[in-house]
Amino acid sequence: MTQDEMKQAVAQAAVDYIQPKLSSDSVVGVGTGSTANFFIDALAKVKHLFDGAVASSEATAERLKAHGITVYDLNEANVLDVYVDGADEFDGHLNLVKGGGGALTREKIVAAVAKEFVCIVDASKKVDVLGDFPLPIEVIPMARSYVAREIVKLEGMPVYREGFVTDNGNEILDVHHLDIVNPKELERTLNNVVGVVTCGLFANRGANIVLMGTERGVETIKL
Ligand code: A5P
Repeated sequence: MTQDEMKQAVAQAAVDYIQPKLSSDSVVGVGTGSTANFFIDALAKVKHLFDGAVASSEATAERLKAHGITVYDLNEANVLDVYVDGADEFDGHLNLVKGGGGALTREKIVAAVAKEFVCIVDASKKVDVLGDFPLPIEVIPMARSYVAREIVKLEGMPVYREGFVTDNGNEILDVHHLDIVNPKELERTLNNVVGVVTCGLFANRGANIVLMGTERGVETIKL
């Protein structure tokens, strides 16, 4: 099974998982990335079962609209029963690293609003300790160098994602060599650095359930 086939299987599993919870007034939170794209394609097949979606990026909004799914501004949709999104890494406590695609801030906002966060990944994303994948941090452009110096004090190695601008008009630092033994605390510490918009650690609001595509089929991981 290829990685894309695993992503497709897990995307379909997410639709099967949320389908019984959908009603004609449901609004679904939708993440960003290649796995989320497979989810959108699978979700489109049951679009008659729900009202619309909130997107975590411009790219996701476009894909949803191309399928004829209504996209709401988050401020118009106060209740989100579920948010479905991929991740760059997850650990055994369902803490996540996200933001490889640069959509971390909107992803974190939609995840915060949703009652349930369903994370969809292929098996390559599972780790014992987070941090092999460089941790993305969205920064206000004028604060980039200052934030980078603060990260060095935390023993991380920040690399500026050159030429990349987020949907919010900001920049990304990808932080290498962080030893993420306490993800909740590190998330709070990083979010407290002036100029940081969001860090890509999803630990204080991690996933409620992870659906992981493997060679043997889709595995469900819950705490
Ligand atoms: C987007 O900013 C990310 O958080 C993605 O959710 C994450 O990078 C997973 O993407 P893939 O599904 O493409 O691996």
